[in-house]
Amino acid sequence: MVKIILLYCVLFLLFAASYQASNVVYNVVKLGAKPDGKVDSTEAFTKAWTLACSSTWPAMVYVPQGSFLIKPVVFGGPCKNKILFSIDGTIVAPSNYWVFGNSGFWILFYKVTGVTVYGGTIDAKGGSFWACRNAGNNCPPGSRSLSFVASSNIMVSGLTSINSQMFHISIDHCHNITLQNMKISAPSWSPNTDGIHMQSSTGISITNSMIQTGDDCISIGPGSKNLRIHRIACGPGHGISIGSLALHQNEGGVEDVKVTSVVFMGTQNGVRIKSWGRPSTGYARNVVFENIIMKYVYNPIIIDQNYCPSAKGCPKHSSGVKISGVTYKNIKGTSATQLAMNFVCSSSNPCKGLKLEDIKLTYYKKSAAATSFCKNANGSNKGLVIPPSCL
Ligand SMILES: *[C@@H]1O[C@H](CO)[C@@H](O)[C@H](O)[C@H]1NC(C)=O
Ligand SMILES: *[C@@H]1O[C@H](CO)[C@@H](O)[C@H](O)[C@H]1NC(C)=O
Repeated sequence: MVKIILLYCVLFLLFAASYQASNVVYNVVKLGAKPDGKVDSTEAFTKAWTLACSSTWPAMVYVPQGSFLIKPVVFGGPCKNKILFSIDGTIVAPSNYWVFGNSGFWILFYKVTGVTVYGGTIDAKGGSFWACRNAGNNCPPGSRSLSFVASSNIMVSGLTSINSQMFHISIDHCHNITLQNMKISAPSWSPNTDGIHMQSSTGISITNSMIQTGDDCISIGPGSKNLRIHRIACGPGHGISIGSLALHQNEGGVEDVKVTSVVFMGTQNGVRIKSWGRPSTGYARNVVFENIIMKYVYNPIIIDQNYCPSAKGCPKHSSGVKISGVTYKNIKGTSATQLAMNFVCSSSNPCKGLKLEDIKLTYYKKSAAATSFCKNANGSNKGLVIPPSCL
């Protein structure tokens, strides 16, 4: 009797396992995708997603080796269970940038929960789009490569993103997002190819990643809270930036940010907080930059509250953004300019509670010393601070 029950148990488990194996992996090639990088495979990807999304079991969308051409696509939710989007191959965008230069997105995950994107390469082939922009021709506004909007409990692990038209990865109105072991790459002269941009989002962790871009490696927009950025190599690029803030009058603040163990190599900025010189309800508070190495960085430590490109809408205003509680701790290395620490805060809302501790930044030319500059900035110093603090 026991044997028969055991036999039934084994048969049931085998059945369950084969059910899972045969039904819950949706291989895009089996659904018609062509791994030649030429035939449009968008429909097969959409089919795979729709099947996975309606599965009551946890499901997998599988992209095998090869190159798959995809037009702008929305992977929408809510879905019935978790989804693993596992990529062994490369997803490529159409070479004609007009095909997706107006949609704002290329690959968009919208209203999904519990999605993991694992492995793979996405190549937006942005070269001809940047050339169009840099030549000042009539070009579309451009698209972000991988976007998450109104989504939660997302993990992206081991993904490579190259040559996006605009931002490589964009996170908006999301919660609990982990990005790890990423490689992001675009040339230093490519315009607005930020590595990772976030706004109106909470609980974002970015770790163990290499980011080389023509704009910010990571940009933290209004309404971003509870962020952990750890073990990042940034450069070329414009550094890690909180801002631009104060673009709009009514804006969420940035709060509870920890940036640790980062190396900046030849970047325009290291750690930056930037706001337009305009009225705003925004703020940046409770921010820590710690254990950071600067290698030939133009503005290693900078707060700029007078940001006003092309001098429109801001002259004669001061920034409404309130900056408080920003700690800079154990930051060492070389500055490409003499001014290694630059705090230009708002005249109507001076920075409060800036803390400098164990800073050693030297001018790369040994012939002159590095300097610091403060305007409307208040705070304290601890340990050794080089260049001498202006706080
Ligand atoms: C956050 O998301 C991960 C998946 O990336 C999930 O395992 C975890 O349970 C989520 N945490 C919360 C608090 O929902
Ligand atoms: C600046 O900080 C010092 C002490 O750190 C304090 O006495 C002073 O009132 C502050 N000034 C402003 C304008 O906040």
